[in-house]
Amino acid sequence: MISSERIPNNVDLKQDRRLQRALERWQPKFLDWWKEMGPEGFQDAHKVYLRTAISADTDGWAHFEYVKMPEYRWGIFLAEPEKDRKIGFGDFEGENAWQEVPGEFRNPLRRLIVTQGDTEPASVEQQRMLGSSCPSLYDLRNLFQVNVEEGRHLWAMVYLLHSFFGRDGRDEGDALLERRSGNEDKPRILSTFNEPVTNWLDFFMFTMFTDRDGKFQLLALAESALDPLSRTTRFMLTEEAHHMFVGETGIARAVDRTCQVMKEIGGVSEDVRKHGAIDLPTIQKHLNLWFSLSLDLFGGEISSNAASYFANGLKGRVYEGKYDEHKALDGVYHIDRFDDGKLSTEEVPLRNALNEVHRDAYVADCEKGVKRWNRVLEKYGMSDRLSLPHRRFNRATGLYGAFHFDPAGNMMTEEEWNARKDEWLPSPDDKAYINSLQARPIFEPGKMANWIAPPRRGINNLPIDFEYVRVEE
Ligand SMILES: [Fe+2]
Ligand SMILES: [Fe+2]
Repeated sequence: MISSERIPNNVDLKQDRRLQRALERWQPKFLDWWKEMGPEGFQDAHKVYLRTAISADTDGWAHFEYVKMPEYRWGIFLAEPEKDRKIGFGDFEGENAWQEVPGEFRNPLRRLIVTQGDTEPASVEQQRMLGSSCPSLYDLRNLFQVNVEEGRHLWAMVYLLHSFFGRDGRDEGDALLERRSGNEDKPRILSTFNEPVTNWLDFFMFTMFTDRDGKFQLLALAESALDPLSRTTRFMLTEEAHHMFVGETGIARAVDRTCQVMKEIGGVSEDVRKHGAIDLPTIQKHLNLWFSLSLDLFGGEISSNAASYFANGLKGRVYEGKYDEHKALDGVYHIDRFDDGKLSTEEVPLRNALNEVHRDAYVADCEKGVKRWNRVLEKYGMSDRLSLPHRRFNRATGLYGAFHFDPAGNMMTEEEWNARKDEWLPSPDDKAYINSLQARPIFEPGKMANWIAPPRRGINNLPIDFEYVRVEE
């Protein structure tokens, strides 16, 4: 059942007239932003076969229909409340979860919500030009599905800002629509979300690695003592899974096509480009780039902010329930440092190393995805393998951001780095090659660009040649 309200929701918005009015005033600004900064060239004429969340129960968020994107029903959905939920970690462990924001944590909670919220429109902006180079209608539709859901995630964060932070929250909600990815004067908050996403290899790596960072941030916020934040992020996680699916299977299909071509031409990777596929070293370079950019999002290795977020119950550990104890007061974590260029190990109190604990969990999750890509190579009998670079490689922030490391984690000088970085990261030549492959979009239903294999199945059990995006007659 589709709710007929202007803002679909499961938070009984009509009972709170002030909040409803505030959000209804924000809605046209959001639509203006979407029309200006959303998918370029697909705003009015195109109908897209999209999934729209219409409620938070299991079938409610799997409702499919053709919609013009500006008419997508962005709404506010929170996971069902857990009865008598208690705080699961930190200094307030065992106390009742909060239904309101405690005054003393107003600023850090606002900052956490704004930082999360800012990534959502940022990614839409980063991806806005990709429609004109899509490898198939199936992929085009998946891009737009990701985009509209990031729009909804912005709604989710703005709902919290408007609900709990009064005037400040409304101002923050407006500012979320004013920053622009990559803009020098008003950039997005986190540097990774100002990086250009210029081709579909970037896009698939972004959804594989950067959306996966999102998954881990949301999992940590899902533990929060602030119950509405926890419920909001738990629902967002259901949508995030599809984004990572798009990235992981997108790369798997590109690798699959590369293997087919390598087989056809006798296994020589360098010649793959002559046949219009993407050579494995170029795929590896894009992996290196987006994995390292995404690692930066976890914050400093040693962080007093992370410690106080945890102590105060604002942000927990990922899957906090799996730990035996939830205070994290006794443990230590060993962190490699490179002061004066020499490796040493520092013993850090666990609470101060929680960013690194999260990074570990994230790296392990990424490893699993890379293993699945390598299964494609195994299937074709190839000896080549893709791999994650060392976490010190190409970092912009934290302890390793001040130095240069190769993909194996060995320190190198700036001259060595400059001389060799094109071996490890996409070079201007690689980018030009990918752009030449993706110069024209593929709009015929069922047809795939030459550089990518078809998906195993279509969306919502429909055939692969279904017309997932169509121009209205
Ligand atoms: Fe998101
Ligand atoms: Fe996402």
